[in-house]
Amino acid sequence: MNAPVDITAVRIETERLVLRPWRESDLADLYEYASVDGVGQMAGWLPHRDVDESKAILKMFIDGKKTIALELKDNGKVIGSIGLEDRDENLDLPDSMMGREIGYVLSKDYWGRGLMPEAVKAVIGHCFATLHFDYLTCGHFLRNEQSRKVVEKCGFRYVKDIVHTTRYNTKENTKLYILYNPNVER
Ligand SMILES: CC(C)(COP(=O)(O)OP(=O)(O)OC[C@H]1O[C@@H](n2cnc3c(N)ncnc32)[C@H](O)[C@@H]1OP(=O)(O)O)[C@@H](O)C(=O)NCCC(=O)NCCS
Repeated sequence: MNAPVDITAVRIETERLVLRPWRESDLADLYEYASVDGVGQMAGWLPHRDVDESKAILKMFIDGKKTIALELKDNGKVIGSIGLEDRDENLDLPDSMMGREIGYVLSKDYWGRGLMPEAVKAVIGHCFATLHFDYLTCGHFLRNEQSRKVVEKCGFRYVKDIVHTTRYNTKENTKLYILYNPNVER
């Protein structure tokens, strides 16, 4: 089953980031990174064309209560996000086990500094220690080496290859991974 999730009260501090719910005042920051070419396409969505598109997505983030904003302590800007999405049915996980698929995106300006592994590890800790998920899954397009590095740094185990249809109807060879909660007996 998809584990129930409500991130409205989440606040997690890492060395360089504050992980917290999205706010309406984050609109300019979201548009700034989501409108850059070559970011969303790595995750299956197209760059935002205008600020109204970002506004609609931001409303979805806030109302959906499953997407966490990544605020950089240095400058107070939101530079990325992590979503706890519905699990991928291709993994055939038993209904008795509760978990979610983790998805993430970071502003191009901040790539290569280990910020996403830092954030993902903190979210894994929250999902396993506080929310008692049985597992988290993750997937990346075959061509997305950057995401593969994050997945590996965070300890996920490869499960299988699938073909994923993106929101803009392209097909992407995709690798799926899982990480089981070490604190839960299986
Ligand atoms: C995937 C992503 C979140 C990685 O975040 P990050 O904080 O940069 O992660 P890391 O710092 O650990 O870097 C991961 C790898 O990216 C590569 N990388 C770093 N800077 C890069 C750059 N400017 N251009 C291309 N690749 C780069 C490096 O190979 C690095 O691995 P290494 O640290 O072992 O050398 C980020 O690249 C991103 O947001 N990409 C677009 C959206 C996306 O792919 N989302 C995931 C969908 S599954």
